[in-house]
Amino acid sequence: MHTKIITAALLAFSAVTAYADNNLDTLKEESRTAAMPFLKALAEENKKAVQEGGPESAVKVCKDIAPKMASELSRQKGWKVTRVSMKVRNPMIGTADAWEQKALKKMEARLAKGEKPETLEVAEIVKGADGKTFRYLKGIVLQPGCVSCHGKSEEIPEAVKASLAAEYPHDQATGYAPGQLRGGLSIQRKL
Ligand code: HEC
Repeated sequence: MHTKIITAALLAFSAVTAYADNNLDTLKEESRTAAMPFLKALAEENKKAVQEGGPESAVKVCKDIAPKMASELSRQKGWKVTRVSMKVRNPMIGTADAWEQKALKKMEARLAKGEKPETLEVAEIVKGADGKTFRYLKGIVLQPGCVSCHGKSEEIPEAVKASLAAEYPHDQATGYAPGQLRGGLSIQRKL
């Protein structure tokens, strides 16, 4: 008798947690809560580095800090967190996969229609051969402070150009104007 009640209670409990785990709105909210401070902290680190050492030394900061912050967040949360783009500077970490490319195109179209950068996000639960994965992409829009490293050729100081050419000989991540979609912060969670 007791066992039955306990089993029923356990089943009900696991049904509730399974539901909560797979609820798209909850997953989205959790991702947003992690993505916003991450992007804010990264922009601040960037600004600080540019102010303290000039954009040239900030290239090094960016090279080390951004991937380090993303892998720290991944470890803490048990998710896969990366920054991705269609025109990458670092192809190893930054190349968007098929789902991310589709999401970036959608966000580009939404941005063109006048949507605010703050609300640009795409989320979906994807079923694959290896089970269900929650996919999330938060749009990253170029700000004026980014042009010294991602802007048009004439906006990038010579020293930065030299540093980028040395560190990223296959760099594609230039030519952007403020307001354009630079890429996205991608989160993947196995469900
Ligand atoms: C001081 C130079 C510098 C500034 C300023 C800068 N970035 Fe970057 N950015 C980089 C470097 C270097 C990388 C490659 C990092 C790596 O190796 O993962 C990068 C990579 C990225 C990526 C990952 C995709 C890719 O191309 O590899 C995104 C997204 C990005 N930057 C957005 C921004 C935004 C938005 C701003 C402004 C808020 C900004 N960056 C300002 C140097 C800079």
